[in-house]
Amino acid sequence: MEKKENPILVEDMGYILNSLSVEEKKKFDGSTVLITGCGGFLGYYFMHFFDTYTEELGIKKVIALENFLTGTKDWLDEIVKNNDKIELHEFNVITDDVASIEGAEEANLIIHGASIASPTFYRIYPVETIDANITGLRRLLDFYAEKDIKGFLFFSSSEIYGDPFPEFIPTNEEYRGNVSAMGPRACYDEAKRFGETMCYIFHHKYNMPISVARPFNNYGPGMNINDKRLPADFAKCVHEGRDMILFSDGKPTRTFCYISDAITGYLKVLLFGKLEAFNIGIDKPEVSVKEFAELFQKGAKDIYGYEGKVEFKVSDDKEYLTDNPNRRCPDITKAKTTLDYNPTIYVEEGVKRFLKFLNINNGKLI
Ligand SMILES: NC(=O)c1ccc[n+]([C@@H]2O[C@H](COP(=O)([O-])OP(=O)(O)OC[C@H]3O[C@@H](n4cnc5c(N)ncnc54)[C@H](O)[C@@H]3O)[C@@H](O)[C@H]2O)c1
Repeated sequence: MEKKENPILVEDMGYILNSLSVEEKKKFDGSTVLITGCGGFLGYYFMHFFDTYTEELGIKKVIALENFLTGTKDWLDEIVKNNDKIELHEFNVITDDVASIEGAEEANLIIHGASIASPTFYRIYPVETIDANITGLRRLLDFYAEKDIKGFLFFSSSEIYGDPFPEFIPTNEEYRGNVSAMGPRACYDEAKRFGETMCYIFHHKYNMPISVARPFNNYGPGMNINDKRLPADFAKCVHEGRDMILFSDGKPTRTFCYISDAITGYLKVLLFGKLEAFNIGIDKPEVSVKEFAELFQKGAKDIYGYEGKVEFKVSDDKEYLTDNPNRRCPDITKAKTTLDYNPTIYVEEGVKRFLKFLNINNGKLI
């Protein structure tokens, strides 16, 4: 059967490839990639990228691990069916032994992305979230500590900065954070912080080429519209032709980084192969949640003929806004100068790309 290809996805794959340098691309040649949490939002673009360019990049094998706690499978099955260099294993990073996966010892580029990122869901699974970032990470670090690897990418988060004081916005990597150790988001924020510490320790103990990405609010195709993160909620309302409901006063601000820019950044961090933490996101424009909703409304008018309104309500969930940062904006100078990372897709264009993708795919990932 002919593979269905969404033109937004196809273009984005080309954009990511073209944003990597010749040296970066060469590092994939003959490599085996092992990726955890491959069925989630970022996994969707990683997997499509590896699938699209397996031959061109000379990738030997991709070992994709996922326990499907929140991740989805149908699109992954489709990839695996058509690409004999990609293997998918149902695998829980907390309890399963990576040594049991055939060929895992040969992997030399490791991406640890397994950990629920949506606040609604990590609050339903707080222990699993801690364990994926701590026990799961520890098991992978132990397994690869004395193996010959080229890169190990740990997905941290901009949430390690908590709610920064105004003088620390834009936030650079030196900022130590204003994080609540006890609260509904602490399972995520503190697990990421301790995960970074573990990366630091394993690097020093075993000289491992570990690098850390701190993502700042990604959105775009691959994000399941039922995921409950803000962009997913807005996209779902548009897709279902309902008004958009904001469960805040709409004033908190963020910069939103489109998925193809974000994945380019993560690949650059992975291939950097030295101990370093990088903010990956986009540094402008910083928009309020209300403005972000209005961009969906505006984009959807053209793409979907959407006529919905933006409304404000109080969430039934009393903890919905607890410890929600007021402003989030990265300083990405370090990634720009060290990795030649230059995101170019501003939020207005990115939202339209996301909506076009969903419109073509009828709201689905496949
Ligand atoms: N997307 C963002 O804006 C963002 C921001 C900050 C941090 N991150 C981090 O990047 C990584 C990927 O983010 P995402 O947006 O794709 O998240 P996601 O929640 O969409 O995907 C994570 C995937 O990990 C899987 N998973 C969870 N626990 C697992 C386990 N024990 N074993 C195997 N698989 C497991 C889930 O089923 C899910 O498919 C996460 O570590 C997340 O914390 C993402």
